[in-house]
Order: sequence, then structure tokens, then C-alpha cells
Amino acid sequence: MVHKKRHELIAILAENEHQFISGQALSEQLDISRTAIWKHINELKKDGYQFESAPKKGYRLLAKPDQLNETTIKWGLETEWLGKSIIFKEKVDSTQDLAHSLARKGAEHGTIILADRQLAGRGRMERPWVSDDSGGIWMSIILRPAIPPHQASQMTLFVAVTLVEALEQATGQSIQIKWPNDLFINGKKITGILTEMQAELEAIQYLIIGFGINVNQGIDQFPKEIREKVTSLKIASGQEWSRTNLVQTILREFEKAYQLYIDSGFEAIKQKWMAHAYKLHEKIFIKTTQASFSATVQGISNEGALIVKDEENVEKLIYSAEINW
Ligand code: BTN
Repeated sequence: MVHKKRHELIAILAENEHQFISGQALSEQLDISRTAIWKHINELKKDGYQFESAPKKGYRLLAKPDQLNETTIKWGLETEWLGKSIIFKEKVDSTQDLAHSLARKGAEHGTIILADRQLAGRGRMERPWVSDDSGGIWMSIILRPAIPPHQASQMTLFVAVTLVEALEQATGQSIQIKWPNDLFINGKKITGILTEMQAELEAIQYLIIGFGINVNQGIDQFPKEIREKVTSLKIASGQEWSRTNLVQTILREFEKAYQLYIDSGFEAIKQKWMAHAYKLHEKIFIKTTQASFSATVQGISNEGALIVKDEENVEKLIYSAEINW
């Protein structure tokens, strides 16, 4: 639970970042005692905020923490409904599993579940997702969209596009989407997305959109077996990134794009997906249960299938396959 007065206090101090504000002025603006101000400041220090305080001058904010938690994310979050309810855990088996259990109990549309570390993070096809490390963003979002279940795969593509745009905007890195759902920098995986759905024939009860973003890990923090295939924003850019800022940017862009998708449909998302497609028009090798063949990537269909052309220039839709990129 974020304390409203504490939130207001940090807002005032942050707006006047380099100036002292007297305890008296703060107490008048917030309509609480000077002792209460002092108590809030001490609690904020525990969250990692740094202040300078001087007799007669008052307090001034020196630094905001990059400690992920409910308070630091909410402070400065520019969304209307996404992340109004934030569940943060220092350590959890999987944010995805926690999200399912909260959604079953009625958690609202836009609830986010975030962890510093996951002990049993999981990826697609029952694969483990390495996330016992506070260098990344491990997040699940509960959505209750009014779309039919067969359109749920579009939501996954929508999330990939939104994450690419938010991360490019925040870091200046160039990111591609590898079908179906991986984000790549310099040919290596930086983000995985896992969309799960609880639905009846006609309607979606809820969707859980989970994603893991490698942010500040060095290569040694990944298990040896996957070091060739993965990267982090830090490895790619040579600098550390504030996970709090990234989460805030992602939530802001996600909310904007979600509204656009619900109001205007899939076409705009498809165009953006194509603009970021990994190996678009390049040759790949495909192995399905029926055949193996070389093909070139053409794009995606409205159902999220990969469109390719085989060597005879015949267009094919790939729903599931082993691909050699
Ligand atoms: C994949 O590439 O296979 C998808 C990886 C999804 C990982 C995220 S991290 C947050 C959420 N919790 C999980 O246990 N998995 C997803």
C-alpha cells in the first residue's frame, strides 16, 4: 500500500530537486506535522531515497533509488489503469503462477506482478527461464480484454511490438522480433514472452502476459549452456539501465498501444511487427512434422502464423516448426 502523504511528499521534493524545502513549508502543504514529515523521510530513506537535511533549510532530494518495488514504480508512473495495482515480491517461484492464482481470485484488469528474483521462472514449451537474479525485469500482467479467444495470439504479437518500441525508446538500442515471440539484439535473445489464457468458448476470462527482459546482467550471470544465445541491455549497450524507469516506460507505452489495438484493430500492429521482423526477406530453414525446406521470411498473418515463400516461390503459413535461423 503506497502511503498517499509520502507519495505527495516525494512529489514535492522531486519537483524542486535542487532546492531545500523547509519542514514548515512541507508540513503546511501536506497538512501534517513536522514530526510526521521526518518519519516519512526516514521511511523513504529505507526505500533507497537519499536526502540532504539541514537545520533551518529543511530537506532536499539528492537521489531516487533504483530499487524495484511498488513505491518506486508508482512514483512517476503515467498510466490510468495499468499498474494501479502492483504486486511486488523480492522472491517468488514464478510471477506467472502467482498471476494465475490472483486472476482466479478476481484480480482486476491491469494488475501487474513483478519480482526481483524468480526461483522457478518458466518459458514457453515448459522450458525453464533463468531469472534467479535481480538484473532483469520479470513481470506478468493480468488483462481481461473484451476480444474473442481466437484473437488472443494477436495480443502476443502486440506485446512483442510494444516491448520493442518501449525498449528502443528508453535505450536507443535497435531490437528485432524473432517469430513467434523473442526479442533479439545483435542476433541474441534479450526478452522472452509467455502469453497464457483462461477462456470459455466465446469469451476470455483473463490473459496473463508474462515477459522476462535481461537488463543489467553480465554474461557470467547466465548459465554456460546459453551464453552464446543470450544478451542483456547492459552487454549490448555497455551501460546499466534503471529497471524502474524501464518498467514505467513499458507500462506507459503498453497502455497507449493497448487502447489503439482495442479501438483500431491489428493492422497497425502488424505493420510495426514487420518493421522489426528478424531476418525479413532472408533465408531460413524450416522443419515441420510434414516437411523440411528452405524458405524466405515474408511476414505474419492475422492469426500470428509466419508467412514464408519456399524455393518454388510458393507462399506457406507456418504455425509451428523447428526453425534454423
Ligand atoms: C520464453 O521465451 O520462453 C518466455 C519467457 C517468459 C519469462 C517470463 S519472466 C516473468 C514471467 N514469469 C515466468 O515464470 N515466466 C514469465
